[in-house]
Amino acid sequence: MDGTVGGGGHAEAALELIGPTGTLIGLDVDTEALAAAAARLARFGDRVRLERASFRELGRVLGQQGVPRVDAVLLDLGVSSRQIDAPERGFRFSEESADVTPLDMRMDQRIEKTAADLLAEARPGEIERWLREYGELPGAHRLARAIDDARRRAPIRTVRDLLRIVERAGVGGGRRHHPATLVFQALRIAVNDELAALAEGIDAALAALAPAGRLAVISYHSLEDRLVKQTLRDEARGCVCPPRQPVCTCGRQPRVRIVTPRALRAGAEELRDNPRARSARLRIAERLPEAA
Ligand SMILES: C[S@@+](CC[C@H](N)C(=O)[O-])C[C@H]1O[C@@H](n2cnc3c(N)ncnc32)[C@H](O)[C@@H]1O
Repeated sequence: MDGTVGGGGHAEAALELIGPTGTLIGLDVDTEALAAAAARLARFGDRVRLERASFRELGRVLGQQGVPRVDAVLLDLGVSSRQIDAPERGFRFSEESADVTPLDMRMDQRIEKTAADLLAEARPGEIERWLREYGELPGAHRLARAIDDARRRAPIRTVRDLLRIVERAGVGGGRRHHPATLVFQALRIAVNDELAALAEGIDAALAALAPAGRLAVISYHSLEDRLVKQTLRDEARGCVCPPRQPVCTCGRQPRVRIVTPRALRAGAEELRDNPRARSARLRIAERLPEAA
């Protein structure tokens, strides 16, 4: 199960590995990604099944396909290079065309509200929360106020509109980032409800894995990676009773063994070919047999 099939690069490599009897189910929320994957994976015929669905609905998809268990699940999170490189999707801010690029940021075109809609409608406190929690942005309060002031004067519609507000407010950035990086990250997470989807996706994936099956998650920023690390640790521990409680009363059993105590990162050779792998962190967990 490739829960984020994108352009089908990982799926193609997986299909070559799983041999002539293996089947791959690929999900994505983006129709353009699914079309690209379908073209790339056509040679594998009916060994590939592609479906437009979020990985948070992975259990439902498997149920409908009559597949009780899978041997492996991959979640390669975030946006694809294809999405980033399509200016009209509004994921990119260092664009010549920022003046006309709408603030969209939806990975799933069925999502009702774009980033521009959220910025027009959300309460200032909500915008501040996104900036603080999803962008971990120093100056979240100041920028939320600046957004609120600006939208009273004129609607915030384009990438350039938002960039101007960020620049004027003088927030974000630091040594490693363009000032707008964390702002765009925060909005993207809010538009696509990414953290809730990830938590549900991991839970659904672990429920679907056969014993000794593996879940691999690749994340691209610390917020996602922290959520993956913490969730897998909790799943490996099982018991969720408060630490001071002398006897376990929750009865929860560990569901996984952690295969990568430290996240794996791309090596120098891979980075030469694909600099966008710079921030990638891969974590793997293995499903334990159900307790008797
Ligand atoms: C980094 S790309 C995956 C690239 C892919 N591994 C490849 O080899 O081409 C992430 C993909 O996940 C998709 N995506 C993001 N959130 C999703 C979700 N909740 N459910 C399914 N797909 C999602 C995006 O639309 C995007 O195509």
